Amino acid sequence: MRTTKTQKLEFGSSAMLGLFLGMHAKHLISLAELSREEILTILDRAEYWASQSDDELPESLKSLNKPIVCNLFFEPSTRTRFSFEVAAKKLNLHVLNFDYKSSSSQKGETFYDTIRTLESMGVGIAIVRSSEEYLLSEIADKIKTTSLINAGAGISEHPTQALLDLMTIKKEFGSFEGLKVSIIGDVKHSRVARSSLHALQRFGANVSLCGPDVFIPDANAFPFKMKVLNIEEALSTADVVMLLRIQNERHNISLGHYRDQFGLTSTRLALMQAHTKIMHPAPFNRGVEIDDELIESDRSLIFKQVANGVAVRMAVLERAIR
Ligand code: CP
Repeated sequence: MRTTKTQKLEFGSSAMLGLFLGMHAKHLISLAELSREEILTILDRAEYWASQSDDELPESLKSLNKPIVCNLFFEPSTRTRFSFEVAAKKLNLHVLNFDYKSSSSQKGETFYDTIRTLESMGVGIAIVRSSEEYLLSEIADKIKTTSLINAGAGISEHPTQALLDLMTIKKEFGSFEGLKVSIIGDVKHSRVARSSLHALQRFGANVSLCGPDVFIPDANAFPFKMKVLNIEEALSTADVVMLLRIQNERHNISLGHYRDQFGLTSTRLALMQAHTKIMHPAPFNRGVEIDDELIESDRSLIFKQVANGVAVRMAVLERAIR
């Protein structure tokens, strides 16, 4: 994928028409763009959507614009892609699924030109996952009527994952202030770790990191406060143990003894306090980051995270519509 220099917004273009019709893009590219109040509003709306039955769309939503939503996933995904699609369908929005392999990207079309093409067709929301960190931020100012939503960008950000993690923690613990969270695993290559650290530290949680040295970022190049614990400390002090997948697609580091040294095994579970909960953004490597029998145990919030992902993405789509 390449980005390119762009044309000016021309009078008479569909983007200009969109502006006249009052359709302004409302991007969500980075959590840093959102104030604390905006994040809390998204979490409140997500809880509202989670409490609704699927039978009837609320009157308040029937009068809103009904933009077409397009999922553009340049990297694999199950949870994010389908939960955005489920969320859009619950909001009665039409969803298009861009297929990278059969698209004109294969003929060298730039990402900007792909988005401008969809914008010209009237697509209102583009949900984008990519291995490139700055793909969306490089073009965001030039896209006026299609809201761009970051569904995971390289190792830098995964804002909706952090929002659903916040929602899951809030439902379980009530607040974030002073909560002790241990993020364990491949922190260095994880966009989930970066977004969750950003969100949790902003809301006053006390976040620690743990993992093999090769998976712990260099403190000088890492834009967050870093406290690194050994595995025993990370498990015994935490209210929430947030496990990360080893990002094998982003490096060639092979650690044969990962489970023995850092995996959440049934034996290590005994180190955790009775109230401590387990989270993992998934997909997980069963028997590596976490033992099979713990994934669906009463200590695990993993499938609650997935369910909350739909409600959070409804709230994020709703924010883009209003
Ligand atoms: N947690 C997460 O982003 O999962 P997917 O890669 O399946 O979307």
